[in-house]
Amino acid sequence: MKTVTVSLGDRSYPIHIEAGLLPRAAEFLAPLARGRPMAIVTDENVRPHLATLQASLAAAGVMTDAIILPPGEKTKSWAMLERVCDRLLELGIERSDHVIALGGGVIGDLVGFACSIVKRGCRFVQIPTTLLSQVDSSVGGKTAINTAAGKNLIGAFHQPAMVLIDPDVLDSLPARQVRAGYAEVVKYGLIDDFAFFEWCEANGPALLAGNADARIHAIAHSVAAKARIVAADEHETSGIRALLNLGHTFGHALEAEAGFSDRLLHGEGVAAGCALAFRYSVRRGLCPGQDADRVAAHFRTIGLPDGPAAAGIDAPSATLVGHMMHDKKMAAGTLPFLLAHGIGRTYLDKTVDLADVGVFLDAEPR
Ligand SMILES: NC(=O)c1ccc[n+]([C@@H]2O[C@H](COP(=O)([O-])OP(=O)(O)OC[C@H]3O[C@@H](n4cnc5c(N)ncnc54)[C@H](O)[C@@H]3O)[C@@H](O)[C@H]2O)c1
Ligand SMILES: [Zn+2]
Repeated sequence: MKTVTVSLGDRSYPIHIEAGLLPRAAEFLAPLARGRPMAIVTDENVRPHLATLQASLAAAGVMTDAIILPPGEKTKSWAMLERVCDRLLELGIERSDHVIALGGGVIGDLVGFACSIVKRGCRFVQIPTTLLSQVDSSVGGKTAINTAAGKNLIGAFHQPAMVLIDPDVLDSLPARQVRAGYAEVVKYGLIDDFAFFEWCEANGPALLAGNADARIHAIAHSVAAKARIVAADEHETSGIRALLNLGHTFGHALEAEAGFSDRLLHGEGVAAGCALAFRYSVRRGLCPGQDADRVAAHFRTIGLPDGPAAAGIDAPSATLVGHMMHDKKMAAGTLPFLLAHGIGRTYLDKTVDLADVGVFLDAEPR
C-alpha cells in the first residue's frame, strides 16, 4: 500500500492507494463509523462499486444508506445539492459523521460541498472512481457546484478526512474517460517535473492499456505532487496552487465553446489547453519550439487533442477570447496565464494581453 499525506496541520489526511482496496475499504472506514450507519453518495454508473463497498462495510458490521444520483456534470447543481443535504439531514447526520463520496469528480465536488454546509460542516471521505478524480479532484479540498453563471462558481474549501484510491475500479471506466484523466497526470510533469513527463512518454500507453504498476505509479506520483502544492498554498493565495491550472485557461475556453458537454471532456480540454499554453509560450519567445512540439506529440500519441482543431472546435479566436473574459481567475482586468520556459518549467504570468492571445489563436489551425 502506498500512503501520501496531505500536511495541513490538524486537518492533515492520508491518501491510501492500492489495487484491491475497495473490497477491503471497511478496514479504514469502520473506525470512522463509530458504530453509526454511514451515508454513501454515488451515481448510477458506479453502482457495481457501491455494491462492493457496501459488502465490505456490512461484513464489518457497518450499516449504510446509499444516495444514488444521476450521472453527469448536470448533477453538480443547486437542485442536487438540496437533495443531498435534505437526505443527509433526514438520515440524522451529525457533524462528526463521515459521509462517503464514491464516484468521479462530479460526486466528489458535490458531496464535498454538501458536507461543508450541512450543520456548518460534517466530515467526508473521498473514494474516487475515475482517473481524473484519483489524480486530481479528490485531493485538495476544492468543492463546488455549477450555476447559470458558469462552472464551479459556488463552492467552498473543505478537506476530506481520508482518500481511498483503488485503481482496479478504472477497469469499468470508458477508455475515453481514462484518457481524459490522463491529461491531468501529464500536467504534473509539465508543471515542474521533467523526469515525470519522460516517465509519461515511456509509460503512458501502458497505463492507458490498464497496466497495474503504471497506474499505481502515476496515481501515487500525481497525488504526491498535488499534496505538496496544496500543503504549500491551500487556498490559492500565494500563486503556487495556481500552477495546477496549467492549460486550464485555454482549455476552459474550448470547453465553454463546447457547452461543457460530452463533446469535449474536461481532460480533453486540458490536453489541448496545455499544448496551446506551450505554443503560446514559444510565440512569446519564452520556450524552445521543440518543447512545445514534444508536448503536442505526446498528447497525439495518446489520442488526446493538441489544439482547437483536434478538439473539434472551429470558433473564431474572438469567441474563444470572449470565453476567457468570463474566467473566474480574471482579476482587475487581467487574466493570469500559466506559461512555460520549457517542459517542467512553468510560471504564473500576469502580463498577458488577451488581444495578443487572440492573434495567436487566429494562427492556430481550425
Ligand atoms: N475539486 C477539484 O479540485 C477538481 C479538479 C478537477 C476537476 N474537478 C471537477 O471534476 C469533474 C469531472 O470529474 P470526472 O472526470 O471524474 O467526471 P464524472 O464524475 O462525471 O465521471 C465521468 C463519468 O464516468 C462515470 N464513472 C465514474 N466512475 C466510474 C467507474 N469506475 N466505472 C464506470 N463509470 C464511471 C460517471 O458516472 C460519469 O459518467 C468536473 O465537474 C470538474 O469541475 C474538480
Ligand atoms: Zn482540471
